[in-house]
Amino acid sequence: MNVLVSGGLGYIGSHTVVELVKRHHDVVVVDNLYNADADVQLRIEKITGKKLTTYIADCADAEAMEKIFSSHKVDCVIHFAGYKAVGESVRKPLMYYHNNLLSTLVLLEAMKKHNVHQMVFSSSATVYSPENTSPFREEMRLAATNPYGWTKLMIERILTDYATADPSFSAILLRYFNPIGAHDSGLLGERPVGIPNNLLPYICQVADGTREKLSVFGDDYATPDGTGVRDYLHVVDLALGHVAALEKMANRPGAHAFNLGTGKGTSVLELVHAFEQASHLTIPYVVTDRRPGDIDTVVADPSKAEKELEWKATHSIEEACASAWHFQQHVKDSL
Ligand code: UFG
Repeated sequence: MNVLVSGGLGYIGSHTVVELVKRHHDVVVVDNLYNADADVQLRIEKITGKKLTTYIADCADAEAMEKIFSSHKVDCVIHFAGYKAVGESVRKPLMYYHNNLLSTLVLLEAMKKHNVHQMVFSSSATVYSPENTSPFREEMRLAATNPYGWTKLMIERILTDYATADPSFSAILLRYFNPIGAHDSGLLGERPVGIPNNLLPYICQVADGTREKLSVFGDDYATPDGTGVRDYLHVVDLALGHVAALEKMANRPGAHAFNLGTGKGTSVLELVHAFEQASHLTIPYVVTDRRPGDIDTVVADPSKAEKELEWKATHSIEEACASAWHFQQHVKDSL
């Protein structure tokens, strides 16, 4: 298929582009480099051995989108582009609503004009109301707790309404749990700007000496060891979930949500220990207060994706930790 990938140089986007190219899809990437480095294009090309058509452009730029859609035949858009930091979204809500919603609307309008009828959207487990009990299933109650989460939920709504109004349009809403890890080549991985918000990138920076110690946000949760439990899945598994969605769902009318997770919960301390095993290092940590907004357990029920997309996560937490550490050690190597 001819696939346009917005945000294709970002963490999840870049891994997905590699898997799409490996499966012989024709890919066009659009990325504004807000949260990605330009050398990611070269890194993807090094892994795949193929030249990648890339536009450095903002999806909210209607003129730029018009040019791109006029120059390429597109069958489907995989839409990753968007701001993604929960804390920042609380401080800068207008920036989040403006960017995430406008870029989606402009993309959809360009798609409509150019008869592109399919979108795979990068949603998040954050759309589930915290009142639900894990494992989360697709039909459970939805609600967001911060502007970032609301943008994901609002975009799910926009795509669902659009798919209802126009039966030729179909949308796949992929609700990611906690993506971690990196490409085996050591060429692609997560490169947070500034202090990492997420657990494994923070652990990696403690491991390489950038940060002194990890703060474990609370050990009094209702979980086996008292620390927060999440469903961590390898980013390559997540990337393959997008390929499965694209290939299995082609032209299925309507909007369909799928959880992409492993179904297995891992606590903060279990992830620290898995990393220590993979790296043969010790990660110093202190237990601090809970982080506002966190809940004890977030785990997917991935059975719908297993059944309908024939997709299942296969990598272990240890493999994900080893790949993340390998990437962290080589991220500054020249290509
Ligand atoms: N944690 C720490 N110390 C840290 C960072 C995190 O103890 O320095 C803990 C958190 O309290 C939580 C777990 O590690 O228990 C995972 O935290 P992350 O920040 O890595 O991930 P979250 O589950 O909080 O959030 C992630 C994504 C969000 C998304 C959400 C969906 O970052 O974008 O999953 O559930 F919305």
